[in-house]
Amino acid sequence: MQNRISVFGSINMDLVIYSDSSPSEGETIFGNNFETFLGGKGANQAVAAARMGSEVSFVGKVGSDLFGKILKEKLELEDIETELLQAHTGESGVAFINVIESTAQNQITVISGANSHAQSDQLSDEALSSSEIILSQLEVPLQEIEKLFSRASNKGCLRILNVAPALQLSETLFNETDIFLVNELELSALSNKPLNLDDISSIKECIDSLQLNDDQSIVVTLGSKGVYVHQHNKNEFFSGHKVNAVDTTGSGDCFIGVMASNMLLSKNLFEAADFANKAASLSVTKKGASVSMPSRQEVLDFWS
Ligand code: RIB
Repeated sequence: MQNRISVFGSINMDLVIYSDSSPSEGETIFGNNFETFLGGKGANQAVAAARMGSEVSFVGKVGSDLFGKILKEKLELEDIETELLQAHTGESGVAFINVIESTAQNQITVISGANSHAQSDQLSDEALSSSEIILSQLEVPLQEIEKLFSRASNKGCLRILNVAPALQLSETLFNETDIFLVNELELSALSNKPLNLDDISSIKECIDSLQLNDDQSIVVTLGSKGVYVHQHNKNEFFSGHKVNAVDTTGSGDCFIGVMASNMLLSKNLFEAADFANKAASLSVTKKGASVSMPSRQEVLDFWS
């Protein structure tokens, strides 16, 4: 039975510094606090979907180091299936993150490590057959995502691609994607057009220039401003919700994981995006990426 979300993506140890400012070149500053968290866009999205109650399998690579062992254990604690997660002889992916406390915004540098060895054939045809949704991001090799999406298309899986970080997509990967998930910077890079966030028509112009086919949709997350959804010539904007933000790391991942989970339930992209927008607002009220993902009940309670 197809009822599972398979995430083919990255998993990192996030090394996070909370500080008042970021150092200039050649400058040394004191930070306020240091923490480590399970991260990586793939792992964060998997946790977000699992906390919504979905059955989630994570497909990727950790290193053969201590981080690899810890990262796998953290996924398992979230009830995420790790049978298809493999260890690569070498170092795990890490992300160096600086969170500026006054704005809750971050700067992220990723060292891919084992993630750059993730292979699409880790997901067998049998595992693909039990997946309704294949979810990926661009922190694993693009040619492997392309191969997986082509196989997934033949099995009738819904293919969701988070075009992050902003990299150029091949024509095949572009055509094999059903739903694109981008933030404002990624939309601008994907469409090769400047974007004016204060003008909704500029978002529409970027989307129109992509010339999506009738089966393709795109969702644009706009940080605290909200979310813009385009499907079958229908466009809808959902405003952001006001909360006390402490760390925005992983809020886009929260949105994507929750949206994918809700697509399994209702198949309605607009309803799924509306709910995911609420969940993502809640995620920024806590520190860390994957640890800040809310449960379905937390979202329902907060917004009731
Ligand atoms: O989207 C946030 C994530 O980006 C972090 O968890 C970090 O690991 C990088 O992959």
